Amino acid sequence: MEKIVIRGGNELYGDVYINGMKNAALPIIFATILTADKCIIENVPRVSDITMSFEILREMGASVNYLDETTVEIDTYALVGGNSPYNIVQRMRGSTYLLGAELGRFKKSKVAYPGGCNFGTRPIDMHIKGFQTLGATVTEDDEYVYADAPNGLVGNSIYFDKVSVGATVNIMLAATLADGLTVIENAAREPHIVDLANFLNTCGADIRGAGTGIIKITGVEKLHGCTYDIIPDMIEAGTYMTAVAATGGEVNIRNVIPKHLEIISTKLSEMGVEVRAFDDYITVKSNGKLRSTNIQTLPYPGFPTDMHPQFSTLLAIADGSGTVYETIWQNRFKYVAELEKMGASVMVNEPFAAFRGVEKLHGASVAAVDLRAGAAIVIAGLVAEGTTEVTNIYTIERGYLDIVGKLKSLGADITKIYIDENAFI
Ligand code: UD1
Repeated sequence: MEKIVIRGGNELYGDVYINGMKNAALPIIFATILTADKCIIENVPRVSDITMSFEILREMGASVNYLDETTVEIDTYALVGGNSPYNIVQRMRGSTYLLGAELGRFKKSKVAYPGGCNFGTRPIDMHIKGFQTLGATVTEDDEYVYADAPNGLVGNSIYFDKVSVGATVNIMLAATLADGLTVIENAAREPHIVDLANFLNTCGADIRGAGTGIIKITGVEKLHGCTYDIIPDMIEAGTYMTAVAATGGEVNIRNVIPKHLEIISTKLSEMGVEVRAFDDYITVKSNGKLRSTNIQTLPYPGFPTDMHPQFSTLLAIADGSGTVYETIWQNRFKYVAELEKMGASVMVNEPFAAFRGVEKLHGASVAAVDLRAGAAIVIAGLVAEGTTEVTNIYTIERGYLDIVGKLKSLGADITKIYIDENAFI
């Protein structure tokens, strides 16, 4: 078992480089299934969700080779479809994208029910409804989802009742090689949707409107391979911005697209943090004294749900009272119990949490209950008095590349240690 140990109290200074966005890389990695040619994907973060997606592709018959630390060549020529490995697929949410990609290229797919962070029910009813609207037959049992379109998919109009990143991605994948025009209404507008459209268009697809609520996909015969560079991870960037806001100090967050960080920057400014945006970096300066605020999570361009737990840590130490209203996920407040162990004063009545800022958090033994909650608890450890030990850190490593090394380089007193569990038996 590995743990992160943090001795709180150090301010952060220096420069931190942001990696490619995990949630953009995942759909693009599965989208390579749509072409039998090789693709070269650059700026791929080597985090465990990504390496798991490569394992899935390899087990299905693809070849996946790192050309350097962040560049990967993927060749899905030998794939036949419908044979993804149950054990890995059911451990990660992004593997639902296999459904759209396999339906697109092979007209059939069989995929285990996907896992991922456990913050409430994570249905795929809108994905299924979308595939059906394109002409697929979809059936389910306790373990698998099966989709078939022996006569091919036919473009159609699809309206999503709710904005869903995953359903938008899946229908874009399925419709790219379908016959005719597909129109997605009430589509997700996240930067990673635009990145997927740019990747597919570079491979020869005809997708317009990504980044707006209406995406139009005119099916093409086939795609060709390409070289493509993944966008920087706005959530990783936002996490380091929040860390500096909490500890105090001054850090340049490098390799970012400032436009994607506008809401996060605005909220931090509201809390008394100085944020300055340049071409491809943002400078965050804080004296660690924060004013409280209220947050409501919304689909992009609203405040991202994946930044909610990190901001909760700020509200826990800010001056005054503030609230979080979580509108995307039903059960995202499990980490609050961990913040309370560190002295936070919080009342949860889902979908709301009310925070009364305390003068100081104190170190404790806490768990990373999911990916972003784990990041939030690490930030709490950075400002707490004394020592914080964080367990369950594999959840953090699903999405943050070398978080310990990056924070240490900014001046944090943080280490990762290995504990031999057998030593206690
Ligand atoms: C993705 C992100 C996740 C982020 C979320 C919202 C990945 C791998 N994960 O998850 O980190 O928190 O977007 O920004 O990119 N819903 C339905 N039916 C469906 C699909 C979704 O009701 O068929 C609901 C969900 O329960 C949720 C909301 O729609 O309430 C948004 O979910 P969605 O955008 O699909 O999230 P994911 O794509 O799973």
